[in-house]
Amino acid sequence: MKNFETLAEQFGTYFNKRHFPTEPATLYDPNEYFLQMGGKRIRPVLCLMGNELFDEISEDAWYLGTAIELFHNFTLIHDDIMDEAPLRRGKETVHQKFGSNTAILAGDVMLVTAYEELNKISEHYLRSILSIFNKTAKEVCEGQQMDMDFEKLESVSYDEYIKMIELKTSVALAASLQTGAILGGAGQRNQELLYDFGRKLGIAFQIQDDYLDAFGVPEKFGKQVGGDIMANKKTFLLIHTLEAASAAQKKELHHLMTHNTTDKVAKMQQLFIDCNANEWVLKLKNKYLDEAIAHLEDIAVLSKRKAPLLELAHYLIKRDH
Ligand code: IPE
Ligand code: IPE
Ligand code: MG
Ligand code: MG
Ligand code: MG
Repeated sequence: MKNFETLAEQFGTYFNKRHFPTEPATLYDPNEYFLQMGGKRIRPVLCLMGNELFDEISEDAWYLGTAIELFHNFTLIHDDIMDEAPLRRGKETVHQKFGSNTAILAGDVMLVTAYEELNKISEHYLRSILSIFNKTAKEVCEGQQMDMDFEKLESVSYDEYIKMIELKTSVALAASLQTGAILGGAGQRNQELLYDFGRKLGIAFQIQDDYLDAFGVPEKFGKQVGGDIMANKKTFLLIHTLEAASAAQKKELHHLMTHNTTDKVAKMQQLFIDCNANEWVLKLKNKYLDEAIAHLEDIAVLSKRKAPLLELAHYLIKRDH
């Protein structure tokens, strides 16, 4: 059983090559630029771990991991347009460097390339994996639209927030695990448990992402700190603060959310802290981590086989980037 570091390195060796033709360079170079920035490669590693939980890692898992990572990078290129994000992985985003029109098209062609990779999977597994992949991809779109719709609302319930992050983020982690497990010959029940482990873990993962967006260390985080605040993203930080705020704080919140002043980020951060929202994060992450682990424990394989997933789960919610 290999741990995250080992599998991420092995996947890197497999994945870090040119994925696109040379011409037209104006289309494909931006994609190569983006892929070379790296990233944590969490989803392909989850796919490999899902596979290795039940069997030796198969050739198909490398194709599947590649498809999943290409799909993920496609969603990031488009997400950065939607979020008007200038920075990712410590570098300029694709739309910032090459313009939005190129970023849209570069993302599109990356999505198609992900499907080419999927098409290499043995026929025996392809249909079931494709249907999970497609279902997940549609859910990501739904979550992304909800995320943007929420920017325009004054408030959003905690349950709506969880639903939104489940769709935009966590189902992709869950599906990476489940499809990997399918390649390992896992039975239906074990697949479902692993999916639910990933779904709960993915929620905790996005909660940490939202926390880092407000309170991360810029040099480590690699993205613009405060981007979610600027866009009035309905993260748990804002939802909690809106609920816990005094009348005076509510007035200030409303003012900040309707005026894009230069001190908006600093003032919002202070309000989050004053309302204890940044403490609440721990409680929230641990709740979902515990639920995730309970699903992992129920999977019918020897517990020592689960050790890398358990370790990865703890890392994902403590990460600083
Ligand atoms: C970023 O995902 C998008 C979210 C769902 C939070 P990652 O944090 O996995 O991004 P990279 O691939 O490591 O850069
Ligand atoms: C993005 O969520 C989720 C997807 C890309 C599907 P975020 O917008 O929070 O991700 P980052 O913070 O830009 O990585
Ligand atoms: Mg974003
Ligand atoms: Mg986004
Ligand atoms: Mg984010």
